[in-house]
Amino acid sequence: MRAWIDQLAAGGTLSREELTALIEGRTPQLAEYLFSLARQVCERYYGDQVYLRGLIEFSSFCKNDCYYCGLRCSNRQAQRYRLSAEEIWDCCQVGYQLGFRTFVLQSGEDPWYTDEKLVEIVSGIHRRWSDCAITLSLGERSAESYQALFDAGANRYLLRHEAANPWLYGHLHPARQRLADRMECLSQLKRIGYQVGAGFMVGAPGQTAAHLADDLLYLQQLQPHMVGIGPFIPHHDTPFAGEPAGSLELTLFLLGLTRLMLPSVLLPATTALGTLAEDGRELGMRSGANVIMPNLSPKEVREKYLLYDNKRCTGDEAAEYHQEFSRRMATVGRRISLERGDWQPVPLTER
Ligand code: 5AD
Repeated sequence: MRAWIDQLAAGGTLSREELTALIEGRTPQLAEYLFSLARQVCERYYGDQVYLRGLIEFSSFCKNDCYYCGLRCSNRQAQRYRLSAEEIWDCCQVGYQLGFRTFVLQSGEDPWYTDEKLVEIVSGIHRRWSDCAITLSLGERSAESYQALFDAGANRYLLRHEAANPWLYGHLHPARQRLADRMECLSQLKRIGYQVGAGFMVGAPGQTAAHLADDLLYLQQLQPHMVGIGPFIPHHDTPFAGEPAGSLELTLFLLGLTRLMLPSVLLPATTALGTLAEDGRELGMRSGANVIMPNLSPKEVREKYLLYDNKRCTGDEAAEYHQEFSRRMATVGRRISLERGDWQPVPLTER
């Protein structure tokens, strides 16, 4: 199986069957081998830099009903809130002073935020903090909407594909949410010119190694600039409340494979990874990740944006704990960058 990993590291491809066998047959030794190559590849493109993204969770309303997510519209227990344009800009102001040069505006799919409102919010950020990248993570919208937001100054868009396997996608979502729509949105976003992020959960209920192989093959085809991968973690008020969480070890393995298959990808060590284990994010960095997304949302709303149980959103997760992040990253030989951290298509030595 080392030969398969070598093949990926050399820019080659593997079949669905080979990827499945690699995931199913992984051992701790093989994982360490994968991680050492993944770190080398990451270093070739981004050196020892870890990029920061300030996450602003501005609305917990969602019209979708994903079976795994605490914000699903059927969850009557969820606490809902919306931030005003001024409140969002206040978050940016705080974040800018802390050194953030990317803001990620994330929400449930909340139609209250019309194109007009979002364009005002985005253009306001673009005008005031013109040296910052603006990332949106608002779910599925029309191509016109994506275009209007791009024209207003947004540069990046995160939309996890969630599951590339049609059966699994159907198992995780109600029938009215369609995988084809999701994939169409991702294609539109790329066509418009966004740096695009896709991604999936590891250990989702019903997920097999072959489904994960499908996710990797879909990423290889899409060629996104960013990939969000985190473990599934159950939420007590969802249909999947009683399901086990995804494993740290398998999540790390998928991070490593993703780094080899998409060498220049921007790969966050996600909050969910930091929730599964105290040192989850550091382990993510060791496996090929190079981005962290501290929470910049106002303190009063952080506990209300609950996708899953025990979400790490206070203490050292908070954006104010910059020093703490630096210290943690230093333990794995990495340095926090205060640059925008745009996607880089060529290795450092060729720039
Ligand atoms: N566990 C882990 N990740 C989750 N997400 C939603 N619910 C959960 C959960 N229970 C992820 C989805 C979504 C992203 C914002 O959070 O992949 O795209």
